[in-house]
Amino acid sequence: MFTPKLLFSAVVVFLASSGVNGAAYIPGCSFFAGQCLYTISQGQDANCLSAGSGSAAAVCCDTLKVDVKTIGSDNGKSRIVSLLGSKAQAQAATAQLEAERDDLLAELATVRSELADLTSQVVTCQASLGLSDGDSQPLTALGLPVNLRYCDFESDSDCTWTYDTDVVSHMTSSSSGPGADHSLGSTGGRFMALDVSKAAKNGKKYSTKTYFITSQEYEPANDYCIAFYYSMLGKDVQGLEVAIKTDTGSSYPVWSSSGPKSSDWLLAQFEVDREYVAEPFSLRFKVSTSSYKDYYGNLELDDGDIGIDDVYAYNGTCKEALGCSPNSVKRNSSDGSTPCYTFHVTALPWKDAYRTCREEGPASALVSVESEEEQNFLIGVINGDPALRVAGQSGFYTSGSDRQYEGSFKWTDTGSGRSVSGLYENWGYRQPNNVGGIQDCLLLEDAAEGFAWGDVDCDTAHPFICEKS
Ligand SMILES: *[C@@H]1O[C@H](CO)[C@@H](O)[C@H](O)[C@H]1NC(C)=O
Ligand SMILES: *[C@@H]1O[C@H](CO)[C@@H](O)[C@H](O)[C@H]1NC(C)=O
Repeated sequence: MFTPKLLFSAVVVFLASSGVNGAAYIPGCSFFAGQCLYTISQGQDANCLSAGSGSAAAVCCDTLKVDVKTIGSDNGKSRIVSLLGSKAQAQAATAQLEAERDDLLAELATVRSELADLTSQVVTCQASLGLSDGDSQPLTALGLPVNLRYCDFESDSDCTWTYDTDVVSHMTSSSSGPGADHSLGSTGGRFMALDVSKAAKNGKKYSTKTYFITSQEYEPANDYCIAFYYSMLGKDVQGLEVAIKTDTGSSYPVWSSSGPKSSDWLLAQFEVDREYVAEPFSLRFKVSTSSYKDYYGNLELDDGDIGIDDVYAYNGTCKEALGCSPNSVKRNSSDGSTPCYTFHVTALPWKDAYRTCREEGPASALVSVESEEEQNFLIGVINGDPALRVAGQSGFYTSGSDRQYEGSFKWTDTGSGRSVSGLYENWGYRQPNNVGGIQDCLLLEDAAEGFAWGDVDCDTAHPFICEKS
């Protein structure tokens, strides 16, 4: 008697029995371990003649003979044809369902990306209208548990610092001291400095002359993390000290350094605890030089400047204050360094973009793209985020600038900077071109050409990327 079930079990028996431990299975009809085993293949019918003895074996063989005959009959064939037909139909139906499912998924992906584009357009729109939105914040928010008071000396109203005469609150560059400020790395920026040659006019021979620079007042807290950049270039600079000043007076120095130093801007960083900062307090910088004017009025020992720039005061420990922002993207560089980047979609002029980056911490600056690996990493992040893709149509500012010397672009993150030429370069066609004679800032400009670089007017607003090294 033929049934599909029987056909199925016959095949299973064949497959399963071919693996029975070492026991030979002879194709055809046989009696094995008390069971009737047979398989359906050509010559089967004949093999059955050699079935084992006994009535069970005879029934086994008889059943096989009937089954093989049934399969061979018109009825059996049409049954197989109809089974195969319905299997094919089922397969076709499954394939159609799968295709429909794929169509739906593709449609869903399109809807998602359209939604993301719309969202980022809304964000861009809100930004251009000066509205803020919860969603655009995370890109810029530091997300740190402490508050920062930051001073870059770029404008008089920023920081209410006081200082002795001969201290210059807005020095932009100097032939004997740093060639450029730290905040912007160009003559467009300012810093606080003791001009040693100016001090010499009031100096006496062989005596050290000291000057004081006092910061604004900071609120009390349990700890403060202080960081600032200083320069002690020039052979006649002497010392720089920082003390904590409260209502009743100044502490002994909590940080000090003596000059001269060989490279311009250096980072100073220290922590002070409750004993120092439980009361409102200020930072008191003491700068010293031995410069003087000789009997004939000639300046002596007058080479150098002591500069201070980018002062950070966090009302917490340095550990709390100086990590990478939770909203940044970290890169595992092949040279072993792990810089983190924050992407800002709200367009700003270069100087304001720079300040935003500096405020992200003492090791933060507008991005310097110094290898193909770094450029490709940034492109990858931008292309993976619809809001950044949209913002990227107007380019991203970098720290690259030739504000100091026209035609000589440098990465300005360290103040003195490094020349762009000779490192990795990815200028677009006919770039830089200084159109109108006013294009001094390096933009990751051409989104369609892998963000090839171009120079643009620094006063125009663009999105930007900050890098924390
Ligand atoms: C830091 O200052 C901010 C703003 O004044 C304040 O809200 C916060 O509680 C302060 N944090 C600490 C740890 O003192
Ligand atoms: C970078 O390296 C860290 C530690 O080795 C690892 O946990 C992290 O997944 C890496 N990130 C990427 C993007 O490769």
